[in-house]
Amino acid sequence: MDGFNGHRPCRYLIWGKGGWVAGHLESLLRRQSKDVHVTGTRMEDQSEVCKVLDNVKPTHVINCAGKNGRPNVDWCEDNKIETIQANVLGTLTLANECFKRDIHNIVMATGCIYASDYTLDKTRLTSQPFIETDRANFEGSFYSYAKSRVEDILKVYPNILVLRLRMPVSDDLHPRNFVTKIMRYAHVVNVPNSNSILHDLLPLIVPLAESRVTGVLNFTNPGAISHNEVLTLYKEIVDPSYMWKNFTLDEQARVIKADRSNCELDCSKLMGLVKGFQGQGYDVNVPRIHEAYSNCFMRMKEGMQMREGATSPGA
Ligand SMILES: NC(=O)c1ccc[n+]([C@@H]2O[C@H](COP(=O)([O-])OP(=O)(O)OC[C@H]3O[C@@H](n4cnc5c(N)ncnc54)[C@H](OP(=O)(O)O)[C@@H]3O)[C@@H](O)[C@H]2O)c1
Repeated sequence: MDGFNGHRPCRYLIWGKGGWVAGHLESLLRRQSKDVHVTGTRMEDQSEVCKVLDNVKPTHVINCAGKNGRPNVDWCEDNKIETIQANVLGTLTLANECFKRDIHNIVMATGCIYASDYTLDKTRLTSQPFIETDRANFEGSFYSYAKSRVEDILKVYPNILVLRLRMPVSDDLHPRNFVTKIMRYAHVVNVPNSNSILHDLLPLIVPLAESRVTGVLNFTNPGAISHNEVLTLYKEIVDPSYMWKNFTLDEQARVIKADRSNCELDCSKLMGLVKGFQGQGYDVNVPRIHEAYSNCFMRMKEGMQMREGATSPGA
Protein backbone atom coordinates (compact mmCIF):
# COMPACT_ATOMS: atom_id res chain seq x y z
CA MET A 1 0.00 0.00 0.00
CA ASP A 2 1.28 3.47 -0.74
CA GLY A 3 0.47 4.91 2.69
CA PHE A 4 -0.49 8.18 1.04
CA ASN A 5 -3.41 10.31 2.02
CA GLY A 6 -4.30 12.32 -1.07
CA HIS A 7 -1.20 14.38 -1.73
CA ARG A 8 0.53 13.87 1.64
CA PRO A 9 2.16 10.74 3.14
CA CYS A 10 0.16 9.47 6.12
CA ARG A 11 1.27 10.75 9.52
CA TYR A 12 -0.53 9.16 12.48
CA LEU A 13 -1.02 10.94 15.79
CA ILE A 14 -2.34 8.65 18.54
CA TRP A 15 -4.11 10.43 21.40
CA GLY A 16 -4.04 8.65 24.79
CA LYS A 17 -0.33 8.08 25.51
CA GLY A 18 0.13 5.37 28.13
CA GLY A 19 -3.34 3.90 27.51
CA TRP A 20 -3.93 0.22 26.82
CA VAL A 21 -5.45 0.42 23.30
CA ALA A 22 -3.13 3.32 22.40
CA GLY A 23 -0.09 1.18 23.31
CA HIS A 24 -1.25 -1.73 21.15
CA LEU A 25 -1.92 0.57 18.22
CA GLU A 26 1.40 2.37 18.55
CA SER A 27 3.32 -0.97 18.53
CA LEU A 28 1.35 -2.13 15.48
CA LEU A 29 2.01 1.06 13.50
CA ARG A 30 5.71 1.04 14.47
CA ARG A 31 6.00 -2.62 13.36
CA GLN A 32 4.63 -1.48 9.98
CA SER A 33 7.19 1.38 9.90
CA LYS A 34 4.46 4.03 9.81
CA ASP A 35 5.14 7.66 10.65
CA VAL A 36 3.59 7.63 14.14
CA HIS A 37 3.44 10.16 16.98
CA VAL A 38 1.78 9.86 20.38
CA THR A 39 0.47 12.45 22.83
CA GLY A 40 -1.03 12.53 26.30
CA THR A 41 -2.19 16.17 25.98
CA ARG A 42 -5.54 16.79 27.70
CA MET A 43 -8.15 16.82 24.94
CA GLU A 44 -10.34 19.41 26.64
CA ASP A 45 -7.47 21.94 26.70
CA GLN A 46 -8.22 23.57 23.36
CA SER A 47 -5.09 25.74 23.09
CA GLU A 48 -2.80 22.77 23.90
CA VAL A 49 -4.68 20.59 21.41
CA CYS A 50 -4.16 23.26 18.72
CA LYS A 51 -0.44 23.47 19.52
CA VAL A 52 0.03 19.71 19.23
CA LEU A 53 -1.90 19.49 15.96
CA ASP A 54 0.01 22.44 14.47
CA ASN A 55 3.40 21.06 15.58
CA VAL A 56 2.92 17.43 14.54
CA LYS A 57 0.76 18.17 11.46
CA PRO A 58 -0.85 14.70 11.32
CA THR A 59 -2.99 13.51 8.43
CA HIS A 60 -4.78 11.17 10.87
CA VAL A 61 -5.56 11.53 14.57
CA ILE A 62 -6.58 8.31 16.30
CA ASN A 63 -8.33 9.12 19.54
CA CYS A 64 -7.73 6.29 22.03
CA ALA A 65 -8.07 8.65 25.01
CA GLY A 66 -10.82 8.93 27.56
CA LYS A 67 -12.11 7.78 30.89
CA ASN A 68 -13.58 4.31 31.21
CA GLY A 69 -12.88 3.86 34.90
CA ARG A 70 -10.62 1.92 37.21
CA PRO A 71 -11.17 -0.87 38.00
CA ASN A 72 -14.29 -0.58 35.81
CA VAL A 73 -17.00 1.80 34.54
CA ASP A 74 -18.55 2.09 38.02
CA TRP A 75 -15.87 4.79 38.53
CA CYS A 76 -17.68 7.03 36.00
CA GLU A 77 -20.83 7.02 38.18
CA ASP A 78 -18.87 8.70 40.99
CA ASN A 79 -16.77 10.93 38.70
CA LYS A 80 -19.29 12.34 36.23
CA ILE A 81 -17.61 15.72 35.73
CA GLU A 82 -14.21 14.15 34.93
CA THR A 83 -16.00 11.75 32.61
CA ILE A 84 -17.71 14.67 30.83
CA GLN A 85 -14.46 16.66 30.60
CA ALA A 86 -12.64 13.79 28.88
CA ASN A 87 -15.29 11.82 26.99
CA VAL A 88 -17.59 14.68 25.98
CA LEU A 89 -15.78 18.04 25.97
CA GLY A 90 -12.37 16.52 25.19
CA THR A 91 -13.51 14.20 22.40
CA LEU A 92 -15.56 16.97 20.76
CA THR A 93 -12.82 19.61 21.10
CA LEU A 94 -10.31 17.31 19.43
CA ALA A 95 -12.78 16.35 16.69
CA ASN A 96 -13.59 19.99 16.01
CA GLU A 97 -9.92 21.06 15.82
CA CYS A 98 -9.23 18.15 13.45
CA PHE A 99 -12.19 19.25 11.32
CA LYS A 100 -10.82 22.79 11.04
CA ARG A 101 -7.51 21.37 9.74
CA ASP A 102 -9.03 18.68 7.45
CA ILE A 103 -7.47 15.93 9.58
CA HIS A 104 -9.12 12.50 9.45
CA ASN A 105 -10.09 11.65 13.04
CA ILE A 106 -10.73 8.06 14.13
CA VAL A 107 -12.46 7.82 17.51
CA MET A 108 -12.27 4.64 19.59
CA ALA A 109 -15.81 4.52 20.91
CA THR A 110 -18.00 1.82 22.43
CA GLY A 111 -20.76 -0.54 21.33
CA CYS A 112 -21.98 -0.64 24.95
CA ILE A 113 -24.86 1.66 23.99
CA TYR A 114 -27.31 -1.17 23.25
CA ALA A 115 -29.24 -3.84 25.14
CA SER A 116 -30.25 -6.94 23.16
CA ASP A 117 -33.21 -9.15 24.02
CA TYR A 118 -32.44 -12.58 25.48
CA THR A 119 -34.28 -15.71 26.58
CA LEU A 120 -35.40 -15.57 30.23
CA ASP A 121 -32.25 -17.40 31.39
CA LYS A 122 -30.17 -14.89 29.30
CA THR A 123 -28.20 -17.65 27.59
CA ARG A 124 -29.59 -17.06 24.07
CA LEU A 125 -30.25 -13.93 22.02
CA THR A 126 -33.78 -13.37 20.73
CA SER A 127 -33.31 -10.02 18.93
CA GLN A 128 -31.45 -9.11 15.76
CA PRO A 129 -27.90 -7.72 16.07
CA PHE A 130 -27.78 -3.90 16.13
CA ILE A 131 -26.72 -2.06 12.97
CA GLU A 132 -24.85 1.25 13.00
CA THR A 133 -27.97 3.35 12.38
CA ASP A 134 -30.03 1.83 15.23
CA ARG A 135 -30.71 4.30 18.02
CA ALA A 136 -28.92 3.63 21.30
CA ASN A 137 -31.27 1.91 23.76
CA PHE A 138 -28.99 1.43 26.78
CA GLU A 139 -28.51 4.19 29.33
CA GLY A 140 -27.83 2.04 32.39
CA SER A 141 -24.42 3.61 33.03
CA PHE A 142 -23.25 7.21 32.83
CA TYR A 143 -20.29 6.08 30.72
CA SER A 144 -22.58 4.56 28.05
CA TYR A 145 -25.06 7.42 28.23
CA ALA A 146 -22.33 10.03 27.62
CA LYS A 147 -20.66 7.96 24.87
CA SER A 148 -23.91 7.51 22.92
CA ARG A 149 -24.72 11.23 23.07
CA VAL A 150 -21.23 12.14 21.87
CA GLU A 151 -21.45 9.63 19.04
CA ASP A 152 -24.66 11.29 17.84
CA ILE A 153 -22.84 14.63 17.64
CA LEU A 154 -19.62 13.22 16.12
CA LYS A 155 -21.69 11.76 13.24
CA VAL A 156 -22.36 15.29 12.02
CA TYR A 157 -18.66 15.88 11.26
CA PRO A 158 -17.47 14.81 7.79
CA ASN A 159 -13.91 13.96 8.97
CA ILE A 160 -14.83 11.45 11.71
CA LEU A 161 -14.79 7.66 11.83
CA VAL A 162 -16.34 6.24 15.01
CA LEU A 163 -15.22 2.68 15.80
CA ARG A 164 -17.48 0.90 18.29
CA LEU A 165 -15.32 -1.48 20.33
CA ARG A 166 -16.93 -3.98 22.72
CA MET A 167 -15.26 -5.84 25.56
CA PRO A 168 -11.82 -5.69 23.89
CA VAL A 169 -9.53 -8.70 24.22
CA SER A 170 -5.73 -8.82 23.93
CA ASP A 171 -3.44 -11.84 23.55
CA ASP A 172 -2.12 -11.50 27.10
CA LEU A 173 -3.69 -11.29 30.56
CA HIS A 174 -3.43 -7.49 30.83
CA PRO A 175 -5.84 -6.12 33.47
CA ARG A 176 -7.80 -4.22 30.75
CA ASN A 177 -8.41 -7.44 28.78
CA PHE A 178 -12.08 -8.51 29.06
CA VAL A 179 -10.99 -12.10 29.78
CA THR A 180 -8.74 -11.01 32.67
CA LYS A 181 -11.54 -8.83 34.01
CA ILE A 182 -14.09 -11.65 34.17
CA MET A 183 -11.51 -14.13 35.50
CA ARG A 184 -10.81 -11.82 38.45
CA TYR A 185 -14.44 -11.65 39.56
CA ALA A 186 -15.58 -14.14 42.21
CA HIS A 187 -18.64 -14.88 40.06
CA VAL A 188 -19.43 -14.22 36.39
CA VAL A 189 -22.70 -13.86 34.51
CA ASN A 190 -23.25 -15.93 31.39
CA VAL A 191 -24.63 -13.80 28.55
CA PRO A 192 -23.77 -13.88 24.82
CA ASN A 193 -22.13 -10.65 23.63
CA SER A 194 -20.13 -9.20 20.76
CA ASN A 195 -16.43 -8.90 21.58
CA SER A 196 -13.47 -7.20 19.86
CA ILE A 197 -10.30 -9.27 19.49
CA LEU A 198 -7.68 -6.53 19.15
CA HIS A 199 -5.26 -8.73 17.16
CA ASP A 200 -7.85 -8.95 14.35
CA LEU A 201 -9.37 -5.47 14.52
CA LEU A 202 -6.55 -2.99 15.13
CA PRO A 203 -4.76 -3.79 11.81
CA LEU A 204 -7.88 -2.50 10.01
CA ILE A 205 -7.11 1.00 11.24
CA VAL A 206 -4.39 1.41 8.57
CA PRO A 207 -6.63 0.77 5.54
CA LEU A 208 -9.52 2.62 7.20
CA ALA A 209 -7.23 5.63 7.61
CA GLU A 210 -5.58 5.37 4.19
CA SER A 211 -9.02 5.20 2.56
CA ARG A 212 -10.28 8.01 4.82
CA VAL A 213 -13.38 6.02 5.74
CA THR A 214 -15.84 8.11 7.78
CA GLY A 215 -19.10 7.49 9.66
CA VAL A 216 -19.80 4.82 12.28
CA LEU A 217 -18.63 1.20 12.30
CA ASN A 218 -19.42 -1.68 14.63
CA PHE A 219 -15.84 -2.75 15.40
CA THR A 220 -16.19 -6.32 16.71
CA ASN A 221 -15.67 -9.83 15.38
CA PRO A 222 -18.86 -11.22 13.81
CA GLY A 223 -21.15 -13.26 16.05
CA ALA A 224 -21.75 -13.38 19.80
CA ILE A 225 -20.10 -15.51 22.48
CA SER A 226 -21.18 -16.18 26.06
CA HIS A 227 -18.94 -15.73 29.10
CA ASN A 228 -19.01 -19.48 29.73
CA GLU A 229 -17.99 -20.22 26.15
CA VAL A 230 -15.05 -17.78 26.52
CA LEU A 231 -13.93 -19.32 29.81
CA THR A 232 -14.37 -22.88 28.49
CA LEU A 233 -12.07 -22.09 25.56
CA TYR A 234 -9.58 -20.48 27.97
CA LYS A 235 -9.63 -23.60 30.15
CA GLU A 236 -9.24 -25.95 27.15
CA ILE A 237 -6.43 -24.01 25.47
CA VAL A 238 -4.56 -22.04 28.14
CA ASP A 239 -5.10 -23.34 31.66
CA PRO A 240 -6.89 -26.68 32.33
CA SER A 241 -6.83 -25.97 36.09
CA TYR A 242 -8.93 -22.80 35.78
CA MET A 243 -12.38 -22.92 37.46
CA TRP A 244 -15.15 -20.32 37.73
CA LYS A 245 -18.55 -19.81 39.30
CA ASN A 246 -21.61 -18.25 37.68
CA PHE A 247 -24.23 -15.97 39.11
CA THR A 248 -27.34 -14.41 37.63
CA LEU A 249 -27.72 -10.86 36.28
CA ASP A 250 -29.93 -10.08 39.30
CA GLU A 251 -27.19 -11.26 41.65
CA GLN A 252 -24.64 -9.23 39.66
CA ALA A 253 -26.82 -6.11 39.97
CA ARG A 254 -26.35 -6.23 43.76
CA VAL A 255 -22.54 -5.88 43.52
CA ILE A 256 -22.15 -3.30 40.73
CA LYS A 257 -23.02 0.37 40.72
CA ALA A 258 -23.79 0.91 37.03
CA ASP A 259 -25.74 -1.53 34.88
CA ARG A 260 -23.82 -3.32 32.09
CA SER A 261 -24.76 -3.42 28.42
CA ASN A 262 -25.19 -6.88 26.91
CA CYS A 263 -25.70 -6.96 23.15
CA GLU A 264 -24.75 -8.28 19.75
CA LEU A 265 -23.63 -5.87 17.02
CA ASP A 266 -24.05 -6.51 13.29
CA CYS A 267 -20.67 -6.51 11.52
CA SER A 268 -21.88 -6.64 7.90
CA LYS A 269 -20.67 -3.13 7.13
CA LEU A 270 -17.24 -3.83 8.62
CA MET A 271 -16.93 -7.19 6.85
CA GLY A 272 -17.79 -5.55 3.51
CA LEU A 273 -14.90 -3.15 4.03
CA VAL A 274 -12.57 -5.99 5.10
CA LYS A 275 -13.33 -7.82 1.85
CA GLY A 276 -12.53 -4.69 -0.14
CA PHE A 277 -9.25 -4.14 1.75
CA GLN A 278 -8.23 -7.77 1.14
CA GLY A 279 -8.91 -7.20 -2.58
CA GLN A 280 -6.57 -4.18 -2.45
CA GLY A 281 -3.77 -6.38 -0.99
CA TYR A 282 -4.04 -5.50 2.69
CA ASP A 283 -3.18 -8.39 5.02
CA VAL A 284 -6.32 -8.21 7.18
CA ASN A 285 -8.74 -10.86 8.42
CA VAL A 286 -11.57 -10.79 10.96
CA PRO A 287 -12.71 -14.32 11.85
CA ARG A 288 -16.01 -15.05 13.57
CA ILE A 289 -15.82 -14.68 17.32
CA HIS A 290 -15.47 -18.35 18.39
CA GLU A 291 -12.62 -18.96 15.93
CA ALA A 292 -11.08 -15.61 16.87
CA TYR A 293 -11.06 -16.55 20.58
CA SER A 294 -9.47 -19.95 19.84
CA ASN A 295 -6.74 -18.23 17.83
CA CYS A 296 -6.27 -15.62 20.56
CA PHE A 297 -5.88 -18.23 23.32
CA MET A 298 -3.44 -20.22 21.18
CA ARG A 299 -1.29 -17.07 20.75
CA MET A 300 -1.63 -16.46 24.51
CA LYS A 301 -0.46 -20.00 25.29
CA GLU A 302 2.47 -19.72 22.86
CA GLY A 303 3.48 -16.41 24.45
CA MET A 304 3.39 -17.97 27.93
CA GLN A 305 5.44 -20.97 26.77
CA MET A 306 8.01 -18.69 25.14
CA ARG A 307 8.33 -16.60 28.31
CA GLU A 308 8.62 -19.75 30.46
CA GLY A 309 11.30 -21.11 28.08
CA ALA A 310 13.22 -17.84 28.24
CA THR A 311 13.28 -17.84 32.06
CA SER A 312 13.86 -21.58 32.67
CA PRO A 313 17.35 -22.62 33.91
CA GLY A 314 19.72 -23.24 31.02
CA ALA A 315 17.67 -21.17 28.56
N1 LIG B 1 -11.04 -1.03 27.55
C1 LIG B 1 -12.33 -1.24 27.30
O1 LIG B 1 -12.94 -2.15 27.89
C2 LIG B 1 -13.04 -0.42 26.25
C3 LIG B 1 -14.24 -0.89 25.71
C4 LIG B 1 -14.88 -0.16 24.73
C5 LIG B 1 -14.34 1.07 24.35
N2 LIG B 1 -13.19 1.51 24.91
C6 LIG B 1 -12.72 2.84 24.53
O2 LIG B 1 -11.42 2.76 23.98
C7 LIG B 1 -10.65 3.89 24.36
C8 LIG B 1 -9.34 3.42 24.97
O3 LIG B 1 -9.59 2.56 26.07
P1 LIG B 1 -8.41 1.95 26.96
O4 LIG B 1 -8.95 0.70 27.54
O5 LIG B 1 -7.14 1.94 26.20
O6 LIG B 1 -8.35 3.02 28.13
P2 LIG B 1 -7.12 3.41 29.06
O7 LIG B 1 -6.13 2.30 29.16
O8 LIG B 1 -7.73 3.92 30.32
O9 LIG B 1 -6.42 4.58 28.28
C9 LIG B 1 -7.02 5.82 28.11
C10 LIG B 1 -5.95 6.87 28.05
O10 LIG B 1 -6.62 8.13 27.85
C11 LIG B 1 -6.01 9.08 28.71
N3 LIG B 1 -6.96 10.13 29.03
C12 LIG B 1 -8.00 10.12 29.89
N4 LIG B 1 -8.62 11.30 29.88
C13 LIG B 1 -7.96 12.08 28.99
C14 LIG B 1 -8.13 13.41 28.54
N5 LIG B 1 -9.10 14.17 29.01
N6 LIG B 1 -7.27 13.89 27.61
C15 LIG B 1 -6.28 13.11 27.13
N7 LIG B 1 -6.06 11.85 27.54
C16 LIG B 1 -6.91 11.34 28.45
C17 LIG B 1 -5.62 8.29 29.94
O11 LIG B 1 -4.64 8.99 30.64
P3 LIG B 1 -4.81 9.28 32.20
O12 LIG B 1 -4.94 7.96 32.86
O13 LIG B 1 -3.55 10.01 32.52
O14 LIG B 1 -6.03 10.12 32.35
C18 LIG B 1 -5.11 6.99 29.33
O15 LIG B 1 -3.77 7.09 29.01
C19 LIG B 1 -11.53 4.69 25.33
O16 LIG B 1 -12.16 5.76 24.65
C20 LIG B 1 -12.57 3.71 25.77
O17 LIG B 1 -13.78 4.33 26.12
C21 LIG B 1 -12.51 0.78 25.83
